[in-house]
Amino acid sequence: MTTEDLTRGAATRPDSRTRADDRYVFHSWSAQGAISPLPVAGGEGAWFWDEDGNRYLDFASQLVNLNLGHQHPRLVAAVQAQAARLATVGPTFANDVRGELARLIVERAPGATAGDASRDRRWRVFFTNGGADAVENAVRLARLHTGRAKVLSAYRSYHGNTATAITLTGDPRRWPNEVAPDPQVRHFLGPYTYRSAFGARDDAEEGERALAHLREVVSLEGPGTIAAILLETIVGTNGVLVPPDGYLAGVRALCDEHGILLVVDEVMVGFGRVGEWFAIDRWGVVPDLVTFAKGVNSGYVPLGGVVIAEHVAQTFDDRVFPGGLTYSGHPLACAVAVESIRTFEDDRILERVRRLGDELIGPRLREIAARHPSVGEVRGLGFFWAVELVRDRETREPFVPFNASGPAAAPMAAVVAAVKERGVWPFVHFNRLHVAPPLVTSADDLEHGLAAIDAALDVADDHIGKPRTKEGS
Ligand SMILES: Cc1ncc(COP(=O)(O)O)c(C=O)c1O
Repeated sequence: MTTEDLTRGAATRPDSRTRADDRYVFHSWSAQGAISPLPVAGGEGAWFWDEDGNRYLDFASQLVNLNLGHQHPRLVAAVQAQAARLATVGPTFANDVRGELARLIVERAPGATAGDASRDRRWRVFFTNGGADAVENAVRLARLHTGRAKVLSAYRSYHGNTATAITLTGDPRRWPNEVAPDPQVRHFLGPYTYRSAFGARDDAEEGERALAHLREVVSLEGPGTIAAILLETIVGTNGVLVPPDGYLAGVRALCDEHGILLVVDEVMVGFGRVGEWFAIDRWGVVPDLVTFAKGVNSGYVPLGGVVIAEHVAQTFDDRVFPGGLTYSGHPLACAVAVESIRTFEDDRILERVRRLGDELIGPRLREIAARHPSVGEVRGLGFFWAVELVRDRETREPFVPFNASGPAAAPMAAVVAAVKERGVWPFVHFNRLHVAPPLVTSADDLEHGLAAIDAALDVADDHIGKPRTKEGS
C-alpha cells in the first residue's frame, strides 16, 4: 500500500459538499481517477468524523503530525490571538514570536539537557514551511559549510518530495522522480534487525554490521567528497526502525573522523513522538543539523525548520546564506508552536508518552503479536509503533510484497478496512500497520484502538490460513 492509500474512503462520494474536491483538487501521490478521499467534517482530540457522521479514532495523527490532537483549545486560541495581533510579516523583519520559538527550540535542542558534554550546545534555527524544505536547506547548509557535494542517506527512508529530498528518499516514491535527481546523493542500508541484510542475529550484531557497511560505503565513495550523512533518527514511514544502541554514536564517530556533518531528520519523530523533544536524545548523540516540522505545532499552520549547530551557523556570519522563503518563520505558525511547547510542559506530555508507551501500547501490542500468527514483529517506542505482518513467521515472508499495489495489496487493504470498520484510522505502509496516535489520546481510547487492531488481525490470520492462538494457550 502506498502512504496515500490511508486517505482513501471506502466508496465514491457523489455528495455535493465534496463534489468540488473531486472535481478540482489534484491530490498527492495518487492516480487522480483512482481515489475517493474521505470528506472530513470535524475533529476533537484523538477523534475525527466524516460528513456522514462516522467517527474515527485517529491512530495515524493524520500524517503523524497531529501530536496534540484535533482542535486543541490552546492551539486554536494561539492562532486566533496571533491573527488578531499580526497575521503575517516578511522574513526580513524581526518578529517576537519567531524569536521566542527559536529560543524555546534551542533550549530543547539535542544535548541541551543530556548527552555529550564535549560538544558546543549553542544552536540557531532556520525556519521553513514544512519537512521537505527543511531537508533541502539542511543539505544546502552542509554543502556550503563543508565545500563538498555528496550526501548519503538510507534506502529505507522518506525525506520529502522536493528535488534533493526526494532523491535522498530511499523508498519507491523516489523512482518515478529520478527523471531529474540530485546527482550527488548515494544510498546505504541502515539497521533493520528483523530483516537483516547483514545476517545479524540480534540488535547488537545488526548495529555493528550496519555501521561496518556504512563505513565501507563512505570509504568507497571517498570520505573527502561527502558533505553529510542524513538519516531519520528512527526510520518512520518505512518501518518504525529503532536503531540499535550504539549505531547513532558510531555514525557520529564516523562523521567526525572524516569531517562529515551528521544531519538527523526528526520531521516525524521530533517534538514528543517517542517521549523526547528530539528522538536522538534517547541515545545522547549530538548531530550538527536537525530537521523538524509536523509535531512542532501539530500542523495547525505549516511550519518546519533546521536546528543548526553554532559551528555551522558561524560559516554564514560573514558569508551570505543563499536561501530563504517568503513564509520563513510565519508568525501564525510560530505562535502555535510556542503554545504547543508550553502545553507539552504544562501537561507533562513527554512523561505521558514514555509511560503509556512502556506500560500500555508496547505490552498490549506484544500480547496481540503473540495471539496472531500473521504478526511477524511489533516494534517501537513511545507513541510510535509498527505491526509488521507476514505470511509465515518462520520464513518472514511479508504479508504482501514490497511496494505492492492493486490486487497484490488487496490482503492488506482488507485488514485496513477491518480496522476502519471498527472506527479506528490506522497508518498503513506496505505490510505494516503503524500505531501513531496523538500524544493526548486517553488510555481508554488507546485500549479501544488496540482492541480494534487485535480484532482486525483475524482477517490477516484467515488470509494465511492460520487462526489466532486461543487466549491463554
Ligand atoms: C522523516 C520525514 N522527513 C521529511 C518529510 C517531509 O515533510 P513534508 O511533507 O512536511 O514536506 C516527512 C514527511 O512525512 C518525513 O516523515
